Amino acid sequence: MLSYRHAFHAGNFADVLKHWVLIECIEYLKLKDKPFVYYDTHAGPGMYSLDSEFAQKTQEFETGIAQIWNDPDLPEALQAYCELVKSLNDAQSLLQYPGSPGIAKWQLRETDRLILSELHSTEHAALSENFAHDKRTEVWKEDGFNRTLKRLPPNERRALILIDPPYELKADYERVVEFLAAAHRKFAQGIYALWYPVVDRDRIEKLEDALQRSGIRNIVLFELGIEADTDGRGMTSSGMIVINPPWTLQKRIDSGINYLVERLGKGGGFSRSERLVDE
Ligand SMILES: C[S@@+](CC[C@H](N)C(=O)[O-])C[C@H]1O[C@@H](n2cnc3c(N)ncnc32)[C@H](O)[C@@H]1O
Repeated sequence: MLSYRHAFHAGNFADVLKHWVLIECIEYLKLKDKPFVYYDTHAGPGMYSLDSEFAQKTQEFETGIAQIWNDPDLPEALQAYCELVKSLNDAQSLLQYPGSPGIAKWQLRETDRLILSELHSTEHAALSENFAHDKRTEVWKEDGFNRTLKRLPPNERRALILIDPPYELKADYERVVEFLAAAHRKFAQGIYALWYPVVDRDRIEKLEDALQRSGIRNIVLFELGIEADTDGRGMTSSGMIVINPPWTLQKRIDSGINYLVERLGKGGGFSRSERLVDE
């Protein structure tokens, strides 16, 4: 029984880093005039109302996107992300926030395709509605790891694969590595972007270690911590691990991530930008 609802967390500090990295990868793929496929293994509903009961209950967006979306001193690298958020809202009131499929919907071109998987019935229904008239998109109510593996490699031979599980099941920490190894065997040249939460640092060290031993090359890691690690008392940090990153990505993220630490950190905030495995 799935209980996770991302609407409680939409626009929080973890979404800011995740969705910024996502946009950077999409914009890089768009530099070439050749179509690509965007896969989202754990898509969620696609859009979030920040005045909904869910978002209002936790107000996590207030300490995330709300802190930066119309900051006049925003670093250049964060502008495309905040411009997208602005385009969905009135100048002064932040009421709508795009999920990862929403971001892809607005950023992809006519010739690109989207393959989205979401298992939760309510989220799947909302996602299907959000993409009802979008001919570029397939929406599946199926396990996202399996569905994506079935569809790799894409005919286009260019793809971005976002892996964003809720980690409700602790097995997800191992499953993401198994998925990446299997997907990479089928399609080694894809850009894979894996989100992870830091609730228990040991789990992330094991995840990094497993990826370093997987034989997959060319992996970078970015992390935004809003406070120092605690002993399993909630998420204090989160990151993105990118396989085959755009060659410009690390420089772009480095030029904005410490701004995020300053704006979103609570004291003890930090960032990581590291190469996990060489090319
Ligand atoms: C972290 S949320 C996704 C948020 C979304 N990627 C975004 O950035 O807006 C994870 C989603 O995965 C869904 N989910 C959980 N297990 C799944 C599975 N095995 N396959 C596909 N979706 C799953 C949950 O219902 C939830 O909506």
